[in-house]
Amino acid sequence: METRHNFGSKIGAVLASAGSAVGLGNVWRFPTEVGNNGGAAFIFIYLICIAVIGIPVMMSEFLIGRNTHANTISAFAKLAPGKWWRIEGVAGVFVAFLILSYYIVISGWTLFYLIESLGGQLQADKDYGLVFNDFVSNPWLPVLTGAAFMGLTHFIIARGVQSGIEKSSKLMMPLLLFIIGILVVCSFSMPGSSEGLRFLLKPDFSKLKASVILSAVGQAFFSLSLAMGCLCTYASYFRADTKLTKTAVGVSTIDTVVAILSGFIIFPAVFSVNGVNVDAGPGLVFITLPNVFNIAFSHLPLLGYVFSGFFYLLLLLAALTSAISLHESVTAYVLEAFHVSRRKAAAAVSVSCMALGVLCSLSFGVLGDLTLFGMNIFELFDYTASKIILPIGGIIICLFTGWYLDRKLVENELTNGGTLRFRLFRLYYFIIRYVAPFAIAAVFVQELLA
Ligand code: TRP
Repeated sequence: METRHNFGSKIGAVLASAGSAVGLGNVWRFPTEVGNNGGAAFIFIYLICIAVIGIPVMMSEFLIGRNTHANTISAFAKLAPGKWWRIEGVAGVFVAFLILSYYIVISGWTLFYLIESLGGQLQADKDYGLVFNDFVSNPWLPVLTGAAFMGLTHFIIARGVQSGIEKSSKLMMPLLLFIIGILVVCSFSMPGSSEGLRFLLKPDFSKLKASVILSAVGQAFFSLSLAMGCLCTYASYFRADTKLTKTAVGVSTIDTVVAILSGFIIFPAVFSVNGVNVDAGPGLVFITLPNVFNIAFSHLPLLGYVFSGFFYLLLLLAALTSAISLHESVTAYVLEAFHVSRRKAAAAVSVSCMALGVLCSLSFGVLGDLTLFGMNIFELFDYTASKIILPIGGIIICLFTGWYLDRKLVENELTNGGTLRFRLFRLYYFIIRYVAPFAIAAVFVQELLA
């Protein structure tokens, strides 16, 4: 059995967790949701969700992980021996596996678009809807790029907690923040960008419906990597002196800033080009943006080249740091439960996950007709994971920390054995017991009825 490592530094712990949180959810899903839900009013509600529900739930996952220093399944088994709570751990590992299998597909697309943009292929005047459809329905190419992305993820995981996850996060996260800075400046300097700013900053509360609020809660969970034990696993590598409350606030802040800045990159650019739809859905970054890059930079092709190259690099880095967290939560379990080496555990996870990934990828082409409940394989995986297991997992985590765990243990863990002050503990406890579980249940029911 290999010895269990911790993250070597506090900043490493923060950056790795922030890496998990900052992902396709921020750069791809968040702008899509903002576009679909009317702009600034959605962002306003989203911020409330992060502060009131997201941060307390993240603290709960952190305390479960750090207290047990074990993979997610063992963590629940240790805290509640012989009880059914361990099902939450099992669901967490299972669903991380499931999400990873389709996450790598979109990540593979990102890799392809990065290569295309570096090769100057996104600078021609083409029908990018057609380009996108041709690519995703091709039986080989997306599988290949997905596999290449899985290879990258595997490489980092196989190197271990400190020299793989921590080191790569310390490198990739600052780079990611730097790229975002450049892109925001580029985007603002486009003529007509102020329209996009208005869309992001001026809330129109008449657009506020229940479904908007519920989308905001769902987006907050996905974006913060909550409810699936990903952050539990990372927290199991936190040191005894890591401040859980501060780390949760830091990680949530980075994640939210990145999401909003992504909006600031995308919308001014999109609005600067007339006739392009803001509610373009998932195709926003793969179809709309290449169009925007071309039209907006038609007089400055070099700037367009730089902008699109940096944009897809940003998306790739964000995807990679999240994929390693999904991979790690499965690998940590395999490694500790079956007493195999990290390399073997990681290889088993990579290969089996890739097999599922191939199915997901092909569901955009040759397997497109294979459907269940009207969804293809990709959609089915995404639906099962994010619409069913994720909310249930969130509720269970709240009930577990709020009602099952001893209050003393919770308070002790959050204050590092009483050495730190946590003035808002009672508020935290109230939220975890009463507010968060009901809020998540509301989202869940609404999603099921929708
Ligand atoms: N939070 C990541 C994103 O924004 C995705 C992610 C990673 C995730 N790990 C997770 C989502 C665990 C839910 C649960 O893209």
